[in-house]
Amino acid sequence: MKLLTVLLAGILTAALADLRFPLVVLVVQHSKTDPTFSSESCRGTALDEHRILTVASCVDRWSEDVEVLIGTSVCKAPDQPVDHVVLHPLYNPDLKTKSTANVAILFVNESMQVDGSFLAPNLPGTSEKTSGSAFLDTTPGWQQVPILQNNVCRSQTSNNTTLVPSTCNITLGSTLLQSGLSRTTLIGMVTSTPDHCPSRCPLELTSLGPFSHWANHPKLRPPPPPRAAVQLPEVPASVIFSFLKLLAVIGSLGGVSFVFCCVMFLISS
Ligand SMILES: *[C@@H]1O[C@H](CO)[C@@H](O)[C@H](O)[C@H]1NC(C)=O
Ligand SMILES: *[C@@H]1O[C@H](CO)[C@@H](O)[C@H](O)[C@H]1NC(C)=O
Ligand SMILES: *[C@@H]1O[C@H](CO)[C@@H](O)[C@H](O)[C@H]1NC(C)=O
Ligand SMILES: *[C@@H]1O[C@H](CO)[C@@H](O)[C@H](O)[C@H]1NC(C)=O
Repeated sequence: MKLLTVLLAGILTAALADLRFPLVVLVVQHSKTDPTFSSESCRGTALDEHRILTVASCVDRWSEDVEVLIGTSVCKAPDQPVDHVVLHPLYNPDLKTKSTANVAILFVNESMQVDGSFLAPNLPGTSEKTSGSAFLDTTPGWQQVPILQNNVCRSQTSNNTTLVPSTCNITLGSTLLQSGLSRTTLIGMVTSTPDHCPSRCPLELTSLGPFSHWANHPKLRPPPPPRAAVQLPEVPASVIFSFLKLLAVIGSLGGVSFVFCCVMFLISS
């Protein structure tokens, strides 16, 4: 029993050690000319080095005048301008947080690679069901939360939501992830914050499965960085021939020593 506990603890520690979280950034809209412009600050999660997934209502005023800034440092105000914003085609700005497609992708020029520890998460399959527990991005950090199957507050929820216990330290754009053996999957995102907190009702997160096809579309992927082609040095045929000759010599020496050994063995016995 004790051994089993130790084994399980070992496996768990190994699994946790393997768990790497994606890069989370702060996202704000900022007017270059209007000092009274105000906007909620949201969270975004890096999908890869140049793309950030966030909530459309956090970035939908992006224009000539309004820039979208991101920040990767907890202590500093967001300062890096994003190059462009792509809102989901079904996003409805009149419905804002009630829109069923309140998702957007931000593109940044500068690579967000952070000392090699960057983890690019996957998005789930279009209709992938989620259960068990997951990690939720909250203000104090990633928190493990159970995924609730039965909604205690509503008799009917749409199939594209994921329910987790209510958490107060949550901002728009916070994501929910599940870690598998070889991949980490972003399964949900907070696209509206709870009205009452603390609340008996669970948080309703937008499932990201229905958006993976859109987000993974080649048109929404940055071109791969130009990579210097690796050239193998050319080896002249004479070198290969000499090498084969050398092999043959070593091989025959081996044969000779084998015969020598056998003879010695026979003599000694
Ligand atoms: C990103 O790069 C493009 C092409 O080099 C440039 O036109 C654009 O201004 C850059 N965007 C930002 C925000 O630096
Ligand atoms: C929210 O986070 C702050 C620290 O960022 C913490 O002091 C506070 O207790 C948290 N509140 C809840 C309800 O978890
Ligand atoms: C989410 O579910 C609702 C109701 O089931 C549906 O009307 C809506 O189109 C769905 N959204 C996506 C993006 O699949
Ligand atoms: C959710 O999907 C199930 C089948 O997978 C279907 O029977 C049910 O009506 C759907 N619910 C909503 C609200 O779309």
